[in-house]
Amino acid sequence: MTTSAPIRPDSSGPVPRHVAVIMDGNGRWAADRQLPRYEGHRAGMKAVRETIEAAIEEGVEILTLFAFSTENWNRPEEEILALMSLLQFYAQSERAELVQQGVEVKVLGDLSPMDAQTMDAVRTVEEATRGGSTLRLNLMVSYSGRAELLNAVRSLAREVALGVLDPEDIRPWHLEQYLHTRDTPDPDLLIRTSGEFRISNFMLWQLAYTEIHISPVLWPDFTRDHFGEAIRDYQRRERRFGRVTAP
Ligand code: IPE
Ligand code: IPE
Ligand code: MG
Repeated sequence: MTTSAPIRPDSSGPVPRHVAVIMDGNGRWAADRQLPRYEGHRAGMKAVRETIEAAIEEGVEILTLFAFSTENWNRPEEEILALMSLLQFYAQSERAELVQQGVEVKVLGDLSPMDAQTMDAVRTVEEATRGGSTLRLNLMVSYSGRAELLNAVRSLAREVALGVLDPEDIRPWHLEQYLHTRDTPDPDLLIRTSGEFRISNFMLWQLAYTEIHISPVLWPDFTRDHFGEAIRDYQRRERRFGRVTAP
């Protein structure tokens, strides 16, 4: 449901430091309009812009957007090409605005299958926005939570094999230093759009105690007001972390 009230930070509860979003429903948005799936992805760019602006207004420090999963490489080639060229377009056309807003962009995932042109665009936007201090934007591309964990386990196993780490001494931070998100706290709030109640291999370690907000809205229709609703929902939650009351 959309509210028409302007978004404003609410002092009734804490603002989540880190918000993660599974941006889902582009294909259904396009199908509803008898358009090719690509048009849904293209329309989703506006929702990305709105979400960034809303996150800044709310005082969120880190915004992590799931843009493309490792499993999404299994989609038809035509759709993959369209998504990669959209990522290039986004990185180029939004660069100046992101710099001006003080948004620091990091593109995180296994980028080895990415074509050189998209890779260039990604590196350019990362370099141009480096040092932005208003909002950290993690764009998760070619990302898989399980692959990320496997990679971390492999790295830890290597340290053990080299004799520099005793298995008994392994602590959460040892594993976390090998995750793509090594320099960010865990998400406080996860938003998934399009009404799907699943994680789809997203941030399996980091979401352990994250509050989840499922929005029925398809991603291209997601606005700053929907983002505000998710924040208000979060502010009503009691986070207990396994205790009897909130710590
Ligand atoms: C999310 O929308 C974007 C990506 C996964 C790249 P979808 O493309 O998954 O849209 P639906 O779920 O088919 O509607
Ligand atoms: C999750 O959406 C991945 C992204 C939003 C990038 P999917 O549409 O790929 O997930 P499933 O297939 O519905 O689980
Ligand atoms: Mg989907």
